[in-house]
Amino acid sequence: MAHAWQQCIHPDCAAQYDLTQVLPKCPKCGNLLDIVYDWDRMALPDRADKLGRSAFAGAWPAGGPATVSGVWRFGELLPWAPAEKRVTIGEGHTQLRRSPNAADYAGVSRETFRLQYEGLNPSGSFKDNGMAGAFTHANMVGAKIAACASTGNTSASLAAFASASGLMRAVIFIGDGKIAYGKLSQALDYGAVTMLVKGDFDDAMARVQEVCAEEGIYLVNSVNPFRLEGQKTIMYRVLEGLDWKAPDWIVCPGGNLGNSSAFAKALYELYDHGLLDRMPRLAVVNSSGAPTLSRLVNDHGLVWNGGRVDDGAIKTYYDGLDARGEKAHTLASAIEINRPVNLKKCLRGIERTKGVVLEVTDQQILDAKAWVARDGLGCEPASAASLAGAKALVERGVIDRDSVVVCVLTGHQLKDPHATVAYHSYPAEKLKEDYGEFGVSSSAFANRPIPVANSLGDIVDAVRKATAVSGLQ
Ligand code: F0G
Repeated sequence: MAHAWQQCIHPDCAAQYDLTQVLPKCPKCGNLLDIVYDWDRMALPDRADKLGRSAFAGAWPAGGPATVSGVWRFGELLPWAPAEKRVTIGEGHTQLRRSPNAADYAGVSRETFRLQYEGLNPSGSFKDNGMAGAFTHANMVGAKIAACASTGNTSASLAAFASASGLMRAVIFIGDGKIAYGKLSQALDYGAVTMLVKGDFDDAMARVQEVCAEEGIYLVNSVNPFRLEGQKTIMYRVLEGLDWKAPDWIVCPGGNLGNSSAFAKALYELYDHGLLDRMPRLAVVNSSGAPTLSRLVNDHGLVWNGGRVDDGAIKTYYDGLDARGEKAHTLASAIEINRPVNLKKCLRGIERTKGVVLEVTDQQILDAKAWVARDGLGCEPASAASLAGAKALVERGVIDRDSVVVCVLTGHQLKDPHATVAYHSYPAEKLKEDYGEFGVSSSAFANRPIPVANSLGDIVDAVRKATAVSGLQ
């Protein structure tokens, strides 16, 4: 075999497939596939301190930032992707930021708390990292149509890559009424064929897999292992921002569980091959309106178990959801998912990182979101689950105040402005009326807009009162 290949994650199967095959799951046993590397044969940069800064740094080349990929900068760690086939739309120019307000809110030291802000990707979410990977593989195999089911961000990213690269058509499957307008507007504007499926994300996910199998369409959902390879680079950039010193905690929202799976894989691969001195711990945060991972792990004790996951326990849980007619229901629409396709890989990641899983309410998510934005870069509701989760873990004594904690902010504030405006401006009654179904009834950290008459005197008075200064300067 070459430097890299596809391999079934089940230890009793472990079937290997070459890189040119398009396989949404293992044809032998139906489990997920990984990309596996022969690390001894990889041409890793020669670095004094293993992964040294200089290896990946440098000025913008001719063509400027749009030609520079924050994913393919780490191409040496992703040797399955031949340079001439790599696709980029300038993704991954993201920031690891200090964030004093969010640190205070979480109860972590301002010195050691960071936000990894993935909303700065071209389509406004972390998905562009993974899409660079999936699109590159689609390009390697000559695909002409690519499809996904989505709660919105994957579809926005696919649509952007398809139109920007001109390499293939995008077809997206959305649960009808289950997408924030910011995201739907992107898919429509970028020209993706947009199917509004009567049902939710879990339904759309099931249908897209069937349609792709029947029509030979390339599937870019995170069952695609090349997607996750792209998303690993989020961790490489976090580590780069920390001078390649491992943080204590990585905290991220959990939906379809692609991100958490990719983060863990990035970390344990580096650790296993001596490129990271210790393993950070991963905290995966569900919304209590879509709590499958948390319930299976915390209530039913589901574990990776060396790859022999208890399929019966998962089936019993899903059968119970069906019997009760229970659907995922959260204001954090990006993570409104009850049947996460990467469940097993996430369990592996939790075991390898000694990770934890928890749930936070939509009220906690919206409150945390208001604190994220106080440091100048806002996020969409699902992303704020990471800060809400970090705060909850500090309160429980799981995360120490002086720990190095990185909360990943997965999507941009403007993806879903409706919830933000409601939180800051609705009177309590209207907030309850619109969001009571999600358990949201208060907005303790609202920055309320001030209604004023169209009169200079009134406005000056109001501005003075609000800013508590005696005169306009
Ligand atoms: N945050 C945002 C903003 C997302 O869009 C998603 C997933 C997640 C977190 C969860 O990440 O699925 O890897 O656990 N959005 C998918 C989509 C499902 O279709 O855009 P995950």
